Amino acid sequence: MTLIDGKAVSAQIKQEIAAEVEQIEAAGGKRPHLAAILVGHDGGSETYVANKVKACEACGFKSSLIRYETDVTEAELLAKVEELNKDADVDGFIVQLPLPKHISEQKVIEAIDYRKDVDGFHPINVGRLAIGLPCYVSATPNGIIELLRRYNIETSGKKCVVLGRSNIVGKPMATLMMQKANPGDATVTVCHSHSRDLKKECQEADIIIAAIGKPNFVTADMVKDGAVVIDVGTTRVPDATKKSGFRLNGDVKFDEVAPKCSFITPVPGGVGPMTIVSLMKNTLLAGKKAIYQ
Ligand code: GUN
Repeated sequence: MTLIDGKAVSAQIKQEIAAEVEQIEAAGGKRPHLAAILVGHDGGSETYVANKVKACEACGFKSSLIRYETDVTEAELLAKVEELNKDADVDGFIVQLPLPKHISEQKVIEAIDYRKDVDGFHPINVGRLAIGLPCYVSATPNGIIELLRRYNIETSGKKCVVLGRSNIVGKPMATLMMQKANPGDATVTVCHSHSRDLKKECQEADIIIAAIGKPNFVTADMVKDGAVVIDVGTTRVPDATKKSGFRLNGDVKFDEVAPKCSFITPVPGGVGPMTIVSLMKNTLLAGKKAIYQ
């Protein structure tokens, strides 16, 4: 069994990005600039955004954090999005989700200029991904593809089960795994809360990508010998032994599943660090105007 070390791979990629940014600057170019909008004080969102800002520093990017209180109006937020769309110094930006209930997330996502949508959430980027055109790809699925690539994991012709059908992870993950590409070229099944025999689907899978947000959902009896298991779960569960008072729990019952696997990602230290580094890669592409002019 090989433990997939997302922490090490993401550190390596950050170094590669930083080296490229140095070259860009040496050639008289400008550092990529990522802006992030954070509304409210949700613990998870605060941590994610702080980590994104930290990753920007490690990569040599400029970053801007724009904060609003929970009572910000949709109109105010849309006005800021418009301002960032027009700001020539900002290469890409994100609006951290979730947003308060009185604000339409879809409206905000669609207001972002798709050429600066480094999250890959805008329907133009999602649509371009679906038909295999260059675009910004959602960070978590893209990070998983990068792990599969760097660990030389064979995907062509393999049976891949994606657990979960979210717009951010499950759907783009399934799209990438079925893409005519390497990694890709897999036979993909997407399972969700209405799937009739999810256990049997998993038992037949060469690759399981679990993104349903249910701690310890994938158990040993669902996994065939030699399978590749990718755990996207990051549910916060109370843990008095931790300084923060919680720990992150994956969707996979790691201790009993790991011995059966050829490859498995741990939680934490697997997919998580790759998500942020994928956002950094998208920001570098935005800085270079590599996808859109
Ligand atoms: N909330 C959870 N994941 C993400 C993400 O990748 N991007 C944004 N903007 N919000 C999130």
